[in-house]
Amino acid sequence: MESVSNIVKVSLANYLATLPLPNSVLGWFTIGCKGWLKLIPFFSAVGGVSYVTYRFIIPRSPVNPNTKKEELKVVDKFDIEELGDSTAFCRCWRSSKFPYCDGAHNSYNISCGDNVGPLLIKKKK
Ligand code: FES
Repeated sequence: MESVSNIVKVSLANYLATLPLPNSVLGWFTIGCKGWLKLIPFFSAVGGVSYVTYRFIIPRSPVNPNTKKEELKVVDKFDIEELGDSTAFCRCWRSSKFPYCDGAHNSYNISCGDNVGPLLIKKKK
C-alpha cells in the first residue's frame, strides 16, 4: 500500500506539476503544439476514468421499476373500439393497473420532482 501512496503523493504530483496547464482561460490559446501533446495523455486518462465511472460505477435506475419484469419487453396491444370514450395510459411506470393510469404519477412526481402524467386517448365526437 505504501507504493500506491507514493505513486499518488509523489509521482502523480510530480507529473501534474509538469503539465502546461494555464492559469487563465486565455492561457489555453498560448500553450502551443508541444504543450498540447503533453496534455493528450492526461486528458485521455481523465476521459477514460470519467467514462468508466459513468458507464460502470454510477448506478442506473430503470424506467420500469416493477411492471411485468418477467417479460423481456413490455408490449400492450389494444383494439381501438374497446377503449371506450376516454382512456388514460400510464407513462410513469408506477401504476398498479399498468398500462392504465391509476394516479400513481402524482406521488411519484412529488417524491422525485418530476412532472410526468398519463397519455389521454379520447374518441372524437
Ligand atoms: S399512474 Fe403512471 S401516468 Fe398515471
